[in-house]
Amino acid sequence: MTRPRIFETITGLRADVEAARRAGRRIAMVPTMGALHEGHLSLVRTAQARADLVIVSIFVNPTQFAPNEDFDAYPRDNDCDIAKLAALGVDAVFLPTVGEMYPKGFATGITVGGPSQDLESVTRPHFFNGVALVVTKLLLAALPDLAIFGEKDYQQLCVIRQFVRDLNIPIEIDGAPTVREADGLAMSSRNRYLSARDREQAALLPAVLRETLQALDAGTTVADALDRGRRRLSDGGFAVDYLELRAADTLAPVDNATRDMRLLVAARLGATRLIDNMGWSRPS
Ligand code: PAJ
Repeated sequence: MTRPRIFETITGLRADVEAARRAGRRIAMVPTMGALHEGHLSLVRTAQARADLVIVSIFVNPTQFAPNEDFDAYPRDNDCDIAKLAALGVDAVFLPTVGEMYPKGFATGITVGGPSQDLESVTRPHFFNGVALVVTKLLLAALPDLAIFGEKDYQQLCVIRQFVRDLNIPIEIDGAPTVREADGLAMSSRNRYLSARDREQAALLPAVLRETLQALDAGTTVADALDRGRRRLSDGGFAVDYLELRAADTLAPVDNATRDMRLLVAARLGATRLIDNMGWSRPS
């Protein structure tokens, strides 16, 4: 097991990546906020299958948290994360400080549109602008050939594809499937906030997504299937932010001509907010 090369500065990371690029190696990046679990590690394995050199970034990005959110409390354990990445044989880890990413005098922002509208943006209006800013900076710091993001954060993946295309960032963006616990709950760094009782109840979220897709398969109208799903969640103790069926690529509302769709949910159990999604194609 070799320890990954650790970089805390953009200059250091760039020099390493440039040497690899000159040697003709294909480079993949996996941006994360740390507290790594199997979901993150599956992205790393996908990156390793598609590239010769893999860089994982660990950076809890302040610009995507609102003042009332969990930036300070967000779980951080760099030593444990680096050990997990070393076990997988990851080449390089980028661990910038907040000062490295946003030095004194930093004054630039990115405003995203399109798929960022609605859904997460209703309760977290600052969120996707912050994600776009940090992902742009991470991609430009490393300039990999490709970067991998999880479908777990499906709206985030759509937003990233959109601004990478709009800004002509010459990097391929790939999505990877959601990794789930045995009872179906999507893995998330925030699952550890759930009490034992809420953790048990949380499995209702993916169950309702599956039931809703089955109802749609069986010919239930979209409005009825969504109403029933929302009711099942509230009866199960969730406060539902949204349960919506959207076009899989743009996240626009669906009509009878939409073929590939995504069912997306956000709901709160106690103080913990969970999100999940699943794909659905209209039977032909
Ligand atoms: P974070 O929540 O740490 O997630 C890092 C990456 O892991 C994201 O692409 C996310 O979609 C993916 N991921 C998380 N849980 C997953 C699961 N259960 N299965 C598969 N993939 C999963 O998302 C972020 O960080 C940040 O917003 C970031 C993009 C790093 C920008 O700060």
